[in-house]
Amino acid sequence: MTKLSKMSFSKAAAPKAGVAVILTGEGLSLGPLAEEVVAGLEGGLKRSAGIAGFSGKKKTSMDLVAPAGLGLDRLIVFGLGKLEDMTSDDWRALGGAVLAELQKAKADTATVLLDAPETTIAAATAAEFAMGAKLRAYAFDAYKTKKKDEEKTKDLKLTLSVADPKAAKKAWGSAEAIADGVLLARDLVNEPPNVLGPVEFAGKAKELESLGVEVEILGEKEMKKLKMAALLGVAQGSTRPPQLAVMRWNGGKKGTAPVALVGKGVVFDTGGISIKPAAGMEDMKGDMGGAAAVVGAMHAIAGRKAKANVIGVIGLVENMPDGNAQRPGDIVTAMSGTTIEILNTDAEGRLVLADALWYTQQKYKPAIMIDLATLTGAVLVALGNLNAGLFSNNDELADKLLASSKASGEPLWRLPLSKDYDKIIDTPNADVKNTGGRWAGSITAAQFLQRFANDVPWAHLDIAGTAFGAPKDDICQSWASGYGVRLLNQLVADHYEG
Ligand code: BES
Ligand code: MN
Ligand code: ZN
Repeated sequence: MTKLSKMSFSKAAAPKAGVAVILTGEGLSLGPLAEEVVAGLEGGLKRSAGIAGFSGKKKTSMDLVAPAGLGLDRLIVFGLGKLEDMTSDDWRALGGAVLAELQKAKADTATVLLDAPETTIAAATAAEFAMGAKLRAYAFDAYKTKKKDEEKTKDLKLTLSVADPKAAKKAWGSAEAIADGVLLARDLVNEPPNVLGPVEFAGKAKELESLGVEVEILGEKEMKKLKMAALLGVAQGSTRPPQLAVMRWNGGKKGTAPVALVGKGVVFDTGGISIKPAAGMEDMKGDMGGAAAVVGAMHAIAGRKAKANVIGVIGLVENMPDGNAQRPGDIVTAMSGTTIEILNTDAEGRLVLADALWYTQQKYKPAIMIDLATLTGAVLVALGNLNAGLFSNNDELADKLLASSKASGEPLWRLPLSKDYDKIIDTPNADVKNTGGRWAGSITAAQFLQRFANDVPWAHLDIAGTAFGAPKDDICQSWASGYGVRLLNQLVADHYEG
């Protein structure tokens, strides 16, 4: 395992020692500095490439060990394919792929020449590359006390050689804050549920104060006063008390209505009395992925000093079966006054969000409100691990989110809401029931939430498939992905800043 211990940017120059990484377009077209590096290579680059069957295609690389004629330990050449087709997703993925190759090579220092034929690689592009490397380097291994040799951490110092180091450093200042937000979210989701209960999670939110975020924690007493019986009903089967954490970043103009981010923070979801089967239940330590994304996004937004007003609200509870646990058949009155018939205690996330959403829109009158939640298994049936589900009462907000999704590389797919779907959660016994059954399970869950958004432009992201357990890729080798942090940050940057 390699720890990326240092990332620095230096003026473009051809490295003479250590490990060097260069880039090439398809057909082995090099930038001027890469040309300079390979000039001394005995036999030339073409000969090695011919033998290795390497032509500079996208997602291919060639590793030359102790290249003859050069003072380098290794020369690693990465293919870009057609340079003009490289998107920011591609640059991030490339950063990740380069980091992986350096891990494999057990490098402790390396220089990457961000140089290409007839183009200057922009500072923002260098920052995307660096972000990819940083996200790839993450591993959740704090609990491994006995490491095999290959698991032992090795420090890697990575230097990115760029045309304008000052501009790249500035771009990295913001990008690193975003990457740190993603890694914070991954840590929170990966952390075991015995260690991270509601109180400990709230403590993590509190740590954002060091970035200038105002953090307020509401305990059981305060929530009782606010009549949050929907959230409290979920928590009542656990010995660990619930918390509601409110994070406020005031980087925008005073008086501008904030963007509100609301997260489901079920630190462990047993299902409660409607208990889940044993197989795979350990995954439910990640049922606070929505809250983790909100904390990670607040970290990113505050860390890069965004000129925006953003509120994060997370409802933190544990869903346990117990003599005091809530039962199927119970009817609770949410903070909004809505009565909810509990038919399945495993449909708990929407109960937590009902009060968190209502509180947020009442207290903060946000311009928009977005909730994130690992809400339904049904969204996995619909979209698998590859897209989060998007639901919204506002087309303009939905379109903004879809655009930010494209720009940040966190995929999102819109699903419908309608009056007819809403009817499915009517019940003769109360104002609403907490499940509409198996069919359209993600939609009826979203309809439930919509009843508590109270006409504020609102969107719900069901991240049950994307927050954890998604296939590993160039920038994520961890079970927890940190999904949502980059997307939310992008939305704020694109539409709510300045
Ligand atoms: N936390 C689960 C949803 C979930 C499932 C997240 C798989 C991640 C992976 C949620 O609280 C839940 O249990 N939902 C039920 C709702 C049902 C009882 C109406 C579900 O999806 O089965
Ligand atoms: Mn559940
Ligand atoms: Zn849940």
